[in-house]
Amino acid sequence: MSSTAVWNILLSILLICKGYHAAECEANSRKDRELNININSTRNSTGDWVSSFTARKDTNSDPSDMNMDITWKFSECEEKKTVLVRGLLRESPSRKAERLLFHPNCGTNVAIVNNGRTIVKLNDDEKYHGFAMTNRPLKDNELFEVRLDRKTTKWDYGMAIGVTTHDPNTLVVPIYVDDLKNGTWFFRRTCFHKDGNLINENYMEPLNKQKVGDRLGIKRTEFGTLHVYINGVDKGPAASRVPAVVYGVYEVRNEVVAATIVDPSK
Ligand SMILES: *[C@@H]1O[C@H](CO)[C@@H](O)[C@H](O)[C@H]1NC(C)=O
Ligand SMILES: *[C@@H]1O[C@H](CO)[C@@H](O)[C@H](O)[C@H]1NC(C)=O
Ligand SMILES: *[C@@H]1O[C@H](CO)[C@@H](O)[C@H](O)[C@H]1NC(C)=O
Repeated sequence: MSSTAVWNILLSILLICKGYHAAECEANSRKDRELNININSTRNSTGDWVSSFTARKDTNSDPSDMNMDITWKFSECEEKKTVLVRGLLRESPSRKAERLLFHPNCGTNVAIVNNGRTIVKLNDDEKYHGFAMTNRPLKDNELFEVRLDRKTTKWDYGMAIGVTTHDPNTLVVPIYVDDLKNGTWFFRRTCFHKDGNLINENYMEPLNKQKVGDRLGIKRTEFGTLHVYINGVDKGPAASRVPAVVYGVYEVRNEVVAATIVDPSK
């Protein structure tokens, strides 16, 4: 489903030093994607030849999706000295599609906004119906982290984060996360829960102290262990033998009004 269309442009420029001119070579170089190359060989003020080239290409990719390598090789054959400069530009626009977002199938009192990154209550005075999941399964060792944007003073202990084997595309969204009885692990207050049951009452200090801007995260390691993170600090293993395909779960409950998925590249 995720198109991993990574396309490469190979530009090879052979600067022939003897003749002091530059020519493109390598018959198999791909020019079908419009890369404009500018080559400039001039003598500088002390009389030495200096060759430079620039390559320009229109792109829809973000700078963080691009990756560039330049290599050069010097060789001598048939009494001709050559330097081969090779540039490799990789773009992977599919990375944007893989970004972790909230799935549209959420609780009835929340809305997904900000291109899928933010969840916000429709009615701040409603305690429940704030369930949400990620749009795709978490990868091994991938941190699903949510930042608290806004809260009221009406209740407390509203932050809950977890993982579930349920598929957001087919799940009948529950009133709250405790309703998921099969293949669901979550953390709230001080407690770790599995399938709606308490499995560790004192996993860590009470979450009530969370302030706006604080981050709550969960990670499933490649060894099937779940860890909770508070502001990037690992609070230790919370559960083991968690299946490989799990979605992130987050709940906007009680005093929590809005929260945003943290972009790991920022
Ligand atoms: C070519 O390079 C020289 C020296 O760096 C520079 O002065 C000149 O403007 C360049 N010409 C072009 C067309 O880029
Ligand atoms: C001209 O190019 C040579 C060789 O790259 C370099 O050593 C020299 O410093 C350059 N002179 C100027 C004025 O840039
Ligand atoms: C529990 O989840 C597993 C894996 O998703 C599924 O195979 C099983 O049928 C579910 N059981 C119940 C009672 O929902």
